[in-house]
Amino acid sequence: MRQKLEQLKSDFTSAIEQISSEEALEALRVEYLGRRGKLGELLSGLKDLSAEDKKEIGPFANQIKQELEAGFARKHAELMQELAGEKAQSEWIDITAPGIEPVNGNLHLTTQAIQEVVSIFNQLGFIRVRHPEIDWDYYAFESLNMPKDHAARDEWETFFIADGNKVMEGEKGKVVLTPHTSNGQVREIEKGYLPIRMMNINKTYRRQSDVTHVPMFHQFEGLLIDKGVTIAQLKGVFDFFVKRFFGPEREVRLRPHHFRFTEPSFELDISCNLCGGSAKIAGKKCRMCKQGWLELGGAGMVHPNVLHAGGLDPKEYNGFAFGWGVERTLMMKSGMNIDDIRILYKNDLRFLKQF
Ligand code: DAH
Repeated sequence: MRQKLEQLKSDFTSAIEQISSEEALEALRVEYLGRRGKLGELLSGLKDLSAEDKKEIGPFANQIKQELEAGFARKHAELMQELAGEKAQSEWIDITAPGIEPVNGNLHLTTQAIQEVVSIFNQLGFIRVRHPEIDWDYYAFESLNMPKDHAARDEWETFFIADGNKVMEGEKGKVVLTPHTSNGQVREIEKGYLPIRMMNINKTYRRQSDVTHVPMFHQFEGLLIDKGVTIAQLKGVFDFFVKRFFGPEREVRLRPHHFRFTEPSFELDISCNLCGGSAKIAGKKCRMCKQGWLELGGAGMVHPNVLHAGGLDPKEYNGFAFGWGVERTLMMKSGMNIDDIRILYKNDLRFLKQF
C-alpha cells in the first residue's frame, strides 16, 4: 500500500510537470484527487487493512494527499502568473501618453448660411418648404408668365433632362433642373392654404461656371400672399433680413427692374460694407460697389397671371415675392473675402475647415 501511494505521487509529479493550461490542470486534479480519482480508489483499500497497518498507513496516506494538493495549488498559481504576464504584455498601454483627439466635423458654409436665413425669416412667420429640384417647364417658366419660346427665358440657362437624346416631356411640358426657386411659387399657391408665408430653399442649376457662378447653387425664395399686401411691407421684410444677416448699419433700397412674374419688379440693393455706402475710399472710387450699393437679388409684387395660374383671383389676393442666391448672399457678408465662388464646392478641407 505504501509503495502504491509513493508510485501514485511520483506519477502525479511527472504528469503535472507537462501541464501548460488551466483546463489540463483541472483534468489532472479530477483524475487524481476527484471523488472517483486514483487516490480515492487507493484509499478505499484502507478498510481491508489490519488495525496496526491502518495506524501506520493512515497518516502516510494523508500526507500524500496533502502533498498532491499542494502540488496542484503550486502549479495553478504558476499558470495564473504566466497568464497575467502574457496579458500585461499584450494589453500594455502607456496611460501617460497624450490622447488621440477625435476628428471634429463642421457644417458646410452653405448649410450654415441656410440655417441662418431660415431662422431670420422664421421670426417673421415664413416657414421653410422644399419644392422639386427636377420640375416641369410649367412651374419653372410657363406658370410664371413666361410662355413657351418667350425670350425672357434666355436669362435662365437651363439644363433639360433627357432620356438618351430625347428631352423628357410630360403633361406639364419638358423636364428641367430648376434654374430658380421661383418654381415653388405656383406650387405653393396650388396647395390651397392661405395666407402664404413661404421660404423655399433649394438647389438650383444653370449652365454657368466662372468666379461668380457655379452650375449648382442654392436660392431662397420668399412668397407672401394675403389681402392688401403692399410694397412697403416687402421693403420692411427685406430691411429686417438685411439688418440681421449683414449688420444693423446696412441700408436697403429697391431699384426698378423687370421680371415677367412680378409687377412692379425690383432689384434689391444693400449698402456697400467696404465704403460704407459713400462710394469712395480715401478719395478714390470704391472698387467693390456701384455708387455705394451692392445688388443682392430680385423681388416684386406677384403678377396677376401668376396668381391666376395658382387658382387665385388677383382682385381678392395679392402679394410679393423675392429670390436670391444663398452663396452670393454669403459672400457679401462682411469679412468673408471669397473671391471665387467655386471654392465652396471643391471639397478642399483646408478651406472648409475654417468656418
Ligand atoms: N427667380 C429670379 C432669378 O432667379 C429671382 C427673383 C426675382 C425671384 C423676382 C423672385 C422675384 O421671387 O419676385 O433671377
